[in-house]
Amino acid sequence: MAYTQQLIMVSLGPGDPELITLKALKALKDSDAIGVPTKSSDRSFDRSLTYRIVRSLMESEGFERPIFPVYTPMRFREEDWQAQVETLYGAMEEHGRVCFVTLGDSGIYSTVYYLLDRIAKQRPELYETCDVIPGVTSFSQASALAKRPLCVGESQLRIVPLLDKEVPTTTVYMRPKIGMDIDAIPEEGAMVTFEDLGFSGEKITKGKIQTVRRYMTLLIDFFKKDPHAV
Ligand SMILES: C[S@@+](CC[C@H](N)C(=O)[O-])C[C@H]1O[C@@H](n2cnc3c(N)ncnc32)[C@H](O)[C@@H]1O
Repeated sequence: MAYTQQLIMVSLGPGDPELITLKALKALKDSDAIGVPTKSSDRSFDRSLTYRIVRSLMESEGFERPIFPVYTPMRFREEDWQAQVETLYGAMEEHGRVCFVTLGDSGIYSTVYYLLDRIAKQRPELYETCDVIPGVTSFSQASALAKRPLCVGESQLRIVPLLDKEVPTTTVYMRPKIGMDIDAIPEEGAMVTFEDLGFSGEKITKGKIQTVRRYMTLLIDFFKKDPHAV
């Protein structure tokens, strides 16, 4: 039987199963199988927080899907990511629509883009049908628990990986003034403009727009990846 194969990268949120989004939960329920990362070489889920979240959701929401392990040893090696995408290719062959789950939000230091970058090169047609579902980050939850804003008024947020070297930066520009000329904003990586996300006028433009038309405008200067970096 020919299945529709699709891969959905599902962000689970920071740990509390109730912090999953409705969209992510729906994707899990609509899937044919769920890939859960494990750092254990025996592929067990004994130490897997993602497994606990998925099991807890299945129990509380009353659904059941096959769960398969995706071995993610965190060694930052090409062969490990290749093995992970091959596990996902195999699962799609067997099941059809497959979710791969990660903690927090997939845009923040997650395995997701190591895998998607490979899939884009190896299986461009499959890549086009892949969805990424965002989630609550660990620091959004930390801010809520501390009852302290990450940024408000005249302040800004920095996310700093604790590494012993300089790394390229992604900058998110928000709260522009309508009519503002954004030519003056420097572009160091790859700028994308997002207007009215989730609303009827949603528009995503590669590069900078000339003038800000809507208050609900975000510009993201995405970091440029070092082509030699793994
Ligand atoms: C590989 S990053 C993943 C970040 C995740 N995608 C997010 O959106 O928060 C892992 C780091 O995020 C932070 N982190 C993630 N989940 C956390 C949690 N439940 N409690 C505290 N820190 C957490 C820790 O700094 C940890 O070293």
